Amino acid sequence: MTDAADAALAAQYEALPYPHRDPRDEARRLIVGSPGLLREIDHWVFGAARPAARPLRALMAGGGSGDGTIMLAQQLAETGRPGTVTYLDRSAAATAVAKARAQARGLANIVWEQRSLLDLPGSGLGPFDYVDCCGVLHHLPDPAAGLRALVSVLAPGGGLGLMVYAPHGRTGVYMAQDALRLLAPADEAMPVRLDVARRVLKHLPESAWLRRNTLIADHVTGGDAGICDLLLNPRDVAFTVPELFRLLAGAGLRAVCLIEPLRYNPTAYLPDPKLRARAAALSPVERAALAEALCGNMSTHIVYCVRADDPVATPDPMAAISVPVARYTPAAELAAAIRPDHTLAFLFDGLRVPLALPPLAPALLRLVDGHRSVGEIAAEMARRGTAAEAFARAWGATFTAFESVNRLLLAAPSG
Ligand SMILES: C[S@@+](CC[C@H](N)C(=O)[O-])C[C@H]1O[C@@H](n2cnc3c(N)ncnc32)[C@H](O)[C@@H]1O
Repeated sequence: MTDAADAALAAQYEALPYPHRDPRDEARRLIVGSPGLLREIDHWVFGAARPAARPLRALMAGGGSGDGTIMLAQQLAETGRPGTVTYLDRSAAATAVAKARAQARGLANIVWEQRSLLDLPGSGLGPFDYVDCCGVLHHLPDPAAGLRALVSVLAPGGGLGLMVYAPHGRTGVYMAQDALRLLAPADEAMPVRLDVARRVLKHLPESAWLRRNTLIADHVTGGDAGICDLLLNPRDVAFTVPELFRLLAGAGLRAVCLIEPLRYNPTAYLPDPKLRARAAALSPVERAALAEALCGNMSTHIVYCVRADDPVATPDPMAAISVPVARYTPAAELAAAIRPDHTLAFLFDGLRVPLALPPLAPALLRLVDGHRSVGEIAAEMARRGTAAEAFARAWGATFTAFESVNRLLLAAPSG
């Protein structure tokens, strides 16, 4: 199903691939983020149980200018892991940018598909072990139909990584969109609309929520593509936590993890015991909804999900053969940031959450190098005089704390 807004959306991403990227920048940096980071997929989607040697078939649906595709293909390539990343987008211009970026990196593990994700069922593409759809479903005429199309190419035991907009953190965006619908109607040429949008941004009254909202930056740092995507988008709907969970359930899916998990746990920042007890009595979805409503700073939801009836192994940080790995920031850097009072404060879009850690946490983190197993870390700590029980307590607490902020994960088994 497509409509006039969808045709306008297609034209927009043809004229202004999103986000704006210059392939020459590949020489100096890799853009990383969630969803779609290889270590996150290993841990959250496959429960650190899917062997690294098994080829990973990944689909980046609505891949845009290529951020997720380039990240995952690069991570597979540099770790020598087998697999292919299928990039799919209906925009020829976006595909061209993503291809140029892949070429700049010499990546040979990407398959290119220029077509609509709504045509996936019966397309002959797939099945895929991992399907990524970042910032796309909320632009579709029928997000539920889009999600079903993605699930139609999901391999048994596979999982998805999704990002959709969330309403509260986007406060001000929809008001500015309303204003621009009046001042720069959709039937005018894009250059004219962009000019009007820039003028509106320059003269936004100081009371405007968009001016106050420091979480949203695309209109400031994203160039024309950013302004267009944020403020002139023909369709853009945001999902609260309960709406997202209904969307997932409608496609036969269940969430395994919201990123970062701690943000969705209101007890992490409710010191009042009575409030904590009430929050603890809620269902997991209600707790996440409470976190969203209380904090008011979530502008997106990033969720890893699997088929509702698929069991996913629970990563076991206490198993001697498990290999802990830092998500991206090296564990030694995390160790260095721990304060003398054994806390580490995380800042999530203005929400400060202190992690309470055991005194042994820095020493343990310094032993996490992505190669040493938990058993080897335990043996090294024993050699330094830490009793097995004390190690188990400290390691369990350290891993759980850093896993809750998506900083410490378990690696895919090497076999
Ligand atoms: C906001 S961009 C997101 C790009 C990328 N996933 C990212 O996060 O950087 C949305 C992308 O979805 C693509 N898109 C929208 N509807 C689509 C459809 N039905 N089939 C395939 N791609 C679509 C657009 O062309 C655009 O490149």
